[in-house]
Amino acid sequence: MSKTINGFSKLTKEEKVQWIAEHMFVNSEEAIYVLEQYWNTDKKLQKLHDDFVENTLSNYYLPFSVVPNVSINDKIYTVPMVIEESSVVAAASLTTKFWSKRGGFKAEVISTTKVGQVHFMFFGDKSELKKYFIEKKEDLIFSTDAITKNMRIRGGGILDIELRDKTSDLANYYQLHITFETVDSMGANFINTCLETIAAEFKRDDIQIIMSILSNYVPDCLVYAEVSCKVEDLYKENAEENAQKFLTAVKIAQIEPFRAVTHNKGIMNGIDAVVIATGNDFRAVEAGVHAYASKSGVYKGLTNCSIENGIFKFWIEVPLALGTVGGLTALHPLSKFSLEMMQHPTAKELMQIVAVIGLAQNFAAIKALTTKGIQHGHMKMHLTNIIKQLGASEYETVMLNNYFKDKSISHNAVREAYQQLKQKGDFGSAQPPE
Ligand code: MEV
Repeated sequence: MSKTINGFSKLTKEEKVQWIAEHMFVNSEEAIYVLEQYWNTDKKLQKLHDDFVENTLSNYYLPFSVVPNVSINDKIYTVPMVIEESSVVAAASLTTKFWSKRGGFKAEVISTTKVGQVHFMFFGDKSELKKYFIEKKEDLIFSTDAITKNMRIRGGGILDIELRDKTSDLANYYQLHITFETVDSMGANFINTCLETIAAEFKRDDIQIIMSILSNYVPDCLVYAEVSCKVEDLYKENAEENAQKFLTAVKIAQIEPFRAVTHNKGIMNGIDAVVIATGNDFRAVEAGVHAYASKSGVYKGLTNCSIENGIFKFWIEVPLALGTVGGLTALHPLSKFSLEMMQHPTAKELMQIVAVIGLAQNFAAIKALTTKGIQHGHMKMHLTNIIKQLGASEYETVMLNNYFKDKSISHNAVREAYQQLKQKGDFGSAQPPE
C-alpha cells in the first residue's frame, strides 16, 4: 500500500484519520480509537484546537499543574506548569515553599529590548550606502507609522535603526539592526511586519534584500532573580559543608560545558513549563537562553552562587522574551486561565515569575545532587506511579511506600512486593506509619 499521498491537507479531519489509520497501522480500528479518544466533546473547543495548525488529527495531552505559594517581591503567586517529567512540579513546589519561609524570591527586570534585522547585500561604495541610510532613516521609521501606532500608545514601538557593516565576515553583507520595545506582547508578528515594511522602503536597485526577521537572541531583554539566607538556615545538618558543595556545583557549571548543559536543562524544566502554560513560544525562549549561556564563547551555567559572611546567595540572569497579550495567550483557554490565575501579570512580571521558577528548579536539582542524589526524589515519584499503575488500595499504598523507604525501586521489585502484600497481608517488620 502506498504511503505517500497528494492533497492530504485538503481532506477533512475524519478522512485524514482514516487514511493514516489504514496506511500506517496494522490495526486501523485501534489507531482510530487512540486518536478519537482525545477529541473534545465540546465541538467548538475542538475546532479551536484543530485550527491552531494544519493537519490536526487529535489533541496531545500534557499535565497542567500548579505551584502555589510562590513569593516574589513580597507578592504571592500560584504558578501554572505544563510538563510531563514527574518530579519537576514537586521540586518547584518544595523549593518555592522553602524560600517563602526565608524571605521569598527577589526579582527585577533589567531590560526589555528586542531586536529585528533586515539582512541585505550592497555591492557599491560603502560611504554612499551610509549617506543613503542617514538620509533615509526617518522615512524608514515613518513607513511603519500605521503599524506602530497602537504599540506607541501603549509605550512601545521602534527604538532605533542602525546600519551595521558585516562585510568583514561576509562580502557585501550589511544589516539594518532595529531595536524594539513591545511592552506586554512578545511582539514577533509586530516586529516582523515592521521589518518587512522597512525593507520595502529601504530597497533600491543596488540593494538586494536577503531577509527580514526578528532575532530570538535577546540579551537585552533580561531578568534577574535571587534568593538568600543565612547558611545555617539552608540545611538541617552540616549546613556549612553542604552549602560549600552547592557553591562548588554551581562553579563547575561555570567552567564545564558538559555539566553546564545539564545544569541549564534543569533550569529549562521550570522555565519551559511556565512558558508553555502561558501560551508563550518555548522554542524562542530555549534558543535565546542557550545562546545567552554561550555569550562568552564558552557555554556556561545560567545561575551563580556566593557565600559571604555566613550568607548564602543564589541568583539567575536570563533573557526571556515573553508576552501576556496577543498570540496564543488570549486564544488558548488554558493560557488565559493561567494568566488570570497569576492575576494578569504584565510581561515584565511574567519574566520575573518564569525566572524564579527556573531558579527554584535549579536550586532543587543542585541541592538534591549534592546531598541525597537525584534518583532519591525521582524514584519516589516513580514509586508513586508504579503503585498507581498496579491499582493498589490506600492501605497498600502506605504499606508499599513504607516498605520501599530504604530499598531500591524498580518496576519488578514493586510488583513482587505488591503481590506478596496481596497474598500475605504485610511484609512482616515493615508496618505503615502512624
Ligand atoms: C533532570 O530533568 C534535570 C537535572 O538533570 C538537572 C541537573 O542535573 O541540574 C536533574
